[in-house]
This record gives sequence, C-alpha cells and structure tokens, in this order.
Amino acid sequence: MSEAQTPNYSDFLSLEARTRARSAIKQLRPYFEIPGMISFGGGYPHPSTWPVNGMTLSVPFAEKSVFVPGYETTSADKLHPLEEYVKPAAGEPLDPNLAVELQYGKTYGAPHLVDWLTEHIKRTHNPPNDNWEVLNTAGNTDGFDGLLRTLFQRGDSMLVEEFAYPGSLVAAQTQGVSCVGVPMDGDGILVPEMDKILSEWDEGKRGARKPKAVLMVPTCSNPTGYTMPAARKRELYAVARKHNILIFEDDPYCFLQIRKYEDAGKLLPIEETFLSMDVDGRVLRLDSFSKIVAPGSRCGWLTGPREIVSAVMQRSEASTQCPSGFTVSAIAAVVRAWSGHEGFEQRYLPHISRVYEERARAMVSFFEQYLPKEAAEWPAPSGGMFIWLRLRVENHPKRDELSPEDVAERAFQKAVDEKVLTVPSKFFKGEGLPDWTKEQEQKRIFLRICYATPTIEQLETGVQRLAKALKEEWEL
Ligand SMILES: Cc1ncc(COP(=O)(O)O)c(C=O)c1O
Repeated sequence: MSEAQTPNYSDFLSLEARTRARSAIKQLRPYFEIPGMISFGGGYPHPSTWPVNGMTLSVPFAEKSVFVPGYETTSADKLHPLEEYVKPAAGEPLDPNLAVELQYGKTYGAPHLVDWLTEHIKRTHNPPNDNWEVLNTAGNTDGFDGLLRTLFQRGDSMLVEEFAYPGSLVAAQTQGVSCVGVPMDGDGILVPEMDKILSEWDEGKRGARKPKAVLMVPTCSNPTGYTMPAARKRELYAVARKHNILIFEDDPYCFLQIRKYEDAGKLLPIEETFLSMDVDGRVLRLDSFSKIVAPGSRCGWLTGPREIVSAVMQRSEASTQCPSGFTVSAIAAVVRAWSGHEGFEQRYLPHISRVYEERARAMVSFFEQYLPKEAAEWPAPSGGMFIWLRLRVENHPKRDELSPEDVAERAFQKAVDEKVLTVPSKFFKGEGLPDWTKEQEQKRIFLRICYATPTIEQLETGVQRLAKALKEEWEL
C-alpha cells in the first residue's frame, strides 16, 4: 500500500461552507460548564411545558413494547391511562396513523395536519387576502432558511431589529445577505427610522442592494422580550408597502404572551399579528411548535402567498423532503387529546403562557427586591422567556474613561464571578447601525435575562448574585 495522501479538505469546501457565519453566543458555552453557575443565558423552554412526558412504542419484530422516559417520568406505570383510538369526528381533520405517517409523504406536510394548521391560521389571524397557504416546516430555523434560499442572492440585504435573534443573523450572513439593524424602542422597530433607511438607501455606501424584506420577532421577542403593539404594526405595514418590501414575521413566542382576560374571565384574543392585517399578501409568517410543544419536535409552519410558499416547498423537496412522521403523529395526537381548536386555544395554549407568566412575574419581583435601581432598569414583561435588562451606564463611576461596551463587559464578568450567566446585548446587534454618540450608546447597553429554565429558587439566588455584582461594579 502506498503512503496515505490525505486531501486538503478545505479545498473541497463550498463557498457557503467557507463563508458560514457562527453565532458569537457560542463563545459563552464554557461559562455554562462552570460548576454552580446559575444560567439566565440559554433560551431553553421549561420541560414541564412539554405535552408529552413519556411514550411506549410497539415493536412488532421484537414482539414487545418499549418505554421511552420523559420529564419526571421514569417508568411506564407512571404513564396516564391508555385511551382507545377513536376515529375523528366529522369535520375534525386530525387523523394520526403511523401506517400513513411513516411512509414518504407530501412535502407540504401530512394533509390532515396541514388542514388543521390552515384552520388554525384562519381562526387566529384570519388573513384579509385569499392568496395564502401553509407549509409544514421543521421549525422556524428551517422556514427562515427556506425563505433565504428562495428569495435572496449574495449581495442582497434585509432589515432586522436593532437587536435581533442571532440564529437568523448567521443564517442570512452565510448566504451573503446583510442584515441592517433598524433602531428600536420598547415597542420594537422605530418606523420613521425604517422609512429613512429605505428612502436614503445608497447601494455603493451600504455595499448591498436595497432590502427586500424586514425581519422581526414581534411578540415577546428574543432577545428583548418586547411586543410590538398593533398600531406600530400598522404604521410599519404602510412603510413596507410604500417601499414594496416583504415582512417576515418570526413569531415563535406568540402564544407565550401574557394573556388578557375580560372582566367576566373570558380569554381575549392574542395581539393582532402582521398576517392578520396583510391585505396585500406581503407577509411571510413563521410559526413553530418549539415553544408550545417542544423544540425537539422540529416542527413548525410557514404561511404566506402561494407563489412564495410553493417555491419554499420546492426547496424542502430537495432538502428535508417531508416532515418527520413520528412528529406529525405525536403532535396530531396531542392536539386531538385537547379536543381540537377550541381546547387548544382556550385551555392548552393559555396553560403554557401561564407557566411563563408566573416565572416572569417572579423574576420582576426579585428584580424589584434586590437589583440596585441606580445600575439597572427593566420593562414590564409582555411574556415569553426573556427580560431585557438595561444597564444604566450613565451612572457608572468610570463612565467617562470607559466605553459603554467596556462597562457591559465588566458587568457581565462580575456576574460570571458571582456565578450567574447573562448575555450582553452586543451579541444581538444588526449591521450598519448609526454611529451613536457616547451618551446615546450608554442608553443602549442591555443584558438578556432568560427566566425559562432555572427553578424559582435559582431565579431568586441568581438575581441576588447579579445584584451583588452590579452593586460592586457601580460602587454602591
Ligand atoms: C426568534 C426565534 N426565531 C427562531 C427560533 C428557532 O425556532 P425553531 O426551534 O422553530 O427552529 C428561535 C429559537 O429560539 C427564536 O428565538
């Protein structure tokens, strides 16, 4: 045998692989490993909200049924009683059946689940145009990748929130699409700023073609936790129309919003969405089961104009092929167990949002109790999993010598020394933001605090540690 001639593998990498962006947040990974660290860093849903906590699978060739444990369920006798399978009632589309689901299926998704999702979209958003359809995706990451590959080329650009979800930023950057940040306030994107950016767009200076779309996480955003009110959405829609751009509504926290009730205790609808005001057919809405079933379900749905959704479907034909049959059956079975749309909307979804609401309220009460107001401020939570804690850099004793980002870094490190992990706002910034003055920038330094996964006791201890770190750093 001759000497091995190991290829230089980098010569084989595609342009996409060579230009792949990675989320800078990955730098924080080593901190997660530190023993005793309380993490407000990750964005992981609480497993108690997962609607499946164990399952048994009947395995014909092995002639036995096997048990798969789940959250707080370690043996099959802890499972709830087995119900006989009943055929769906008339008009009820959901009909999970592994004999069908485990076969190659339609790329749009299993027809019974797609019909159910279509009805869900009508009931919840009632889009005011008729030209829309639903594609079952493998979650919003997959749906957004489909939009990127279907609508963008290298050298294109899109608008994003000043502080945006890094997963989307890196996906776009990898495709050579620049993500231009639009300044925001506590209600989301500042619409006059968006109008100005689009009106004054200079391809030469920006190094990219005029944006084709604006991407937002309009409800209980990751990272800011902000929810854009309906009036702001209408203003933004008008500007999108003026410049003829698309709106990407990435809304995985939509049903985690703190729900409002009428005096008589009746549940009020969720905040109006972009899809619900889309007379033109310019909204591409990304929904996901990740936060309302479980992230590991890898299941979501894209809704929008047929011409675009069918083009994304053709991308899926050549990549994910069709949704996972195990997931489709499990989700369809879970939703059926809640008695269709009515039970899903009135009982199931409010149950999940209440779990996070209790945590959000606990967190804010710990902030009130422990955090020094000279060093930090926070908004009233609108729901979801995050609070955007503003560091009051303008009060920091070394504000004149240090840059605002240096102050943020010191606060972050002090908190790590106290064994509490947060995520500084620099990790979420879009590109091409204005050159802020030092005073303006001092007001734009935040820590993302995720309250979804630690226990309530850990939330309290974590806030006490953060308070100690901030008091030391601000010399209070
Ligand atoms: C804003 C936002 N978009 C998309 C995703 C990814 O969602 P999925 O699990 O559906 O791919 C996340 C997950 O954290 C998110 O926060």
